Amino acid sequence: TLTAAEKASLVALSGKISGHAEALGAEALERLFFSFPQSKTYFPHFDLTKGSDDIKRHGGKVLSAIGEAAKHVDNLEQALSKLSDLHAYNLRVDPGNFKVLAHCIETVLAAHFPAEFTPEAQAAWDKFLAAVSAVLTSKYR
Ligand code: HEM
Repeated sequence: TLTAAEKASLVALSGKISGHAEALGAEALERLFFSFPQSKTYFPHFDLTKGSDDIKRHGGKVLSAIGEAAKHVDNLEQALSKLSDLHAYNLRVDPGNFKVLAHCIETVLAAHFPAEFTPEAQAAWDKFLAAVSAVLTSKYR
């Protein structure tokens, strides 16, 4: 579980992300697809060229969902219930992909918000993204 200080740090950085969700999300997805090519198999219907509209639009959706989740850290199961159904029942994304994506998101935050992304903030994001991933993969069997 996250401490009050960790929650505050998540919410503070999410606020800075929200105006740039597409650009930051696109960069995280590009890093995911480049460093872990298996992840591309879930997006056969997307143009996965660097900077494509598909990548920007989807990156924006992913980071906006994360920003929204940051406001509900104590209630992630409920807040992410629909996304959890989607990823488990419809998409069947292998859970290993979530770890790499979390790492890519942290890398993007470190690169764009070096002052805010302190070791403490990183620890908070790491816990938070692991919790989000756990919920999105909880309905697999
Ligand atoms: C769709 C969030 C991880 C594959 C989505 C959508 C959101 C989302 C918000 C759009 C849902 C909608 O349109 O209603 C997240 C979050 C993740 C995550 C917050 C983890 C932090 C992953 C991973 C993969 C993945 C690791 C696979 C490598 C997909 C695919 C779609 C999708 C294939 C459907 C895309 C489309 O056809 O538009 N996700 N996702 N997601 N996600 Fe995820």
